[in-house]
Amino acid sequence: MAENAFAGQKTVVSGASGTIGSAIVKRIVDEGGTVTMIGRREEPLKKLVEELGAGKVSYSIVDVDDDDGVKAFGESLDRVDAVICTAGWTVQGPVEQVPVPDALAMFSARYFGQCRLIQATLPKFDKGGMIMMCSGVGNTSYYPYYSYGGAVAAAIEAWAHVVAGELAPRKIRINVMSPGWTVAEQPDPERAARAARIAEGNQTQNPFMASLDSPMHELIRAEEFADAVVFAARSRHYTGQVIRIDAARSVTDSPLDGHVSPMTLTYESDPTM
Ligand SMILES: NC(=O)c1ccc[n+]([C@@H]2O[C@H](COP(=O)([O-])OP(=O)(O)OC[C@H]3O[C@@H](n4cnc5c(N)ncnc54)[C@H](OP(=O)(O)O)[C@@H]3O)[C@@H](O)[C@H]2O)c1
Repeated sequence: MAENAFAGQKTVVSGASGTIGSAIVKRIVDEGGTVTMIGRREEPLKKLVEELGAGKVSYSIVDVDDDDGVKAFGESLDRVDAVICTAGWTVQGPVEQVPVPDALAMFSARYFGQCRLIQATLPKFDKGGMIMMCSGVGNTSYYPYYSYGGAVAAAIEAWAHVVAGELAPRKIRINVMSPGWTVAEQPDPERAARAARIAEGNQTQNPFMASLDSPMHELIRAEEFADAVVFAARSRHYTGQVIRIDAARSVTDSPLDGHVSPMTLTYESDPTM
């Protein structure tokens, strides 16, 4: 039987109380690692400590949007073997309506937040290690009203691609996981209620919400990203890559069950185009 993927390893997970982050924290513990969890809200992190045990997980209240706070967090660590970044949020809306300051704030937390945390923890990597960033499928699939969601995902993936080459001589590997529409087995009640309110208000009139379905017509479970993290931890030469788990949403925008996209219709009616 293979050794546990995180046996004896010290890891950091940002967004640890989130849908994807909490599934990853639990899996790292199952795989023999310890986790320092990062988030802004203390209550859900405390609950995870109660559930998983203080010897396995601890937490630090860190806003990844705060340069000094992230730097101080990095300095407080003695050693780190793996950093998993999932902290982030999104903005969506028609391109002429989304205020650029809102998009900037989102980029600062979700894109630069990952860069900050990686930069602050890199001095604490000893003999190699792994980093996992988190993007999203907005750059590989069409979602109406999601220009900044697409832009931030592309920025994250491009950054990781270059940094992978830079860190390879230190045997530090960096990859990105790109989630399609992903849900938790047991969602954080506060977040679930907020998501339900948004979905209820928007489902019919918001093309973004209507576009979230995938050709498989299934929601993705957060545990699949925990599987991806374990795979990346086990594979010593897997770096600079993007793991897309999106139920074929990046393969086709069409659900493949009778629907024909407007683009196909345009082409077929005018073969000279
Ligand atoms: N779930 C999906 O369908 C999906 C699809 C595509 C992309 N994504 C992206 O993947 C990432 C993870 O998704 P998720 O579904 O797990 O999100 P989530 O459930 O909303 O959790 C986000 C986590 O990020 C933390 N966070 C947000 N801003 C932070 C900040 N400034 N500093 C520190 N922590 C912060 C939150 O904790 P606190 O509130 O305590 O700070 C929370 O734990 C996000 O960037 C999301 O946009 C998700």
